[in-house]
Amino acid sequence: MRLPFFSPPPAPAFAPFHAADAREAAPIHAEGFAIPWSAVDIERLALDPAVIGDAAREGRPGGRLFAFVLSRKAADEAEILTIATARKVQGRGIGRALLARHFARLAASGVRSLFLEVEDANAAARALYARTGFEEVGRRAAYYAKPDGTRADALVLRRSL
Ligand SMILES: CC(C)(COP(=O)(O)OP(=O)(O)OC[C@H]1O[C@@H](n2cnc3c(N)ncnc32)[C@H](O)[C@@H]1OP(=O)(O)O)[C@@H](O)C(=O)NCCC(=O)NCCS
Repeated sequence: MRLPFFSPPPAPAFAPFHAADAREAAPIHAEGFAIPWSAVDIERLALDPAVIGDAAREGRPGGRLFAFVLSRKAADEAEILTIATARKVQGRGIGRALLARHFARLAASGVRSLFLEVEDANAAARALYARTGFEEVGRRAAYYAKPDGTRADALVLRRSL
């Protein structure tokens, strides 16, 4: 007998990120970042023709949003603007799988180099990026203003697609 209580959650399903996903994405962004983006901010980005986004959802009809990533493309380069996984489902490989899907979509649209900035002390994000093939190409000292008034370095990472 299958005990529903112990069943693993459904595997995530991946799809392009749409403006209609912005309302669900905003609370996930707010869990992950000190300066949250509103649903309107996220919707505006999703409607920008230069922005390519991907979403991971619970793999059942009407399943909730698990994670999303947005990148802005310029010629054959792109920059990851944001990526976040809902706190409850972090550490399950969703971010990694979402990025794999995102790399494929960016590459199919002609992107050859992908860049991002990450805070030096963001261990989870740095682990994700190391695991998905990014390399450090620069450091911006005291780039981020922290909520406690201190400043933190940003690393600039790059990956070929
Ligand atoms: C960064 C983030 C998107 C990772 O998403 P996730 O779905 O939990 O990532 P995954 O489960 O796919 O993990 C990817 C790798 O990172 C590692 N990792 C994840 N969380 C970690 C943590 N807290 N500490 C150390 N390593 C961690 C995993 O072990 C995994 O490595 P592995 O494949 O070798 O096991 C998520 O932590 C998040 O939303 N953070 C807040 C927002 C943020 O910081 N975004 C990035 C800004 S640059």
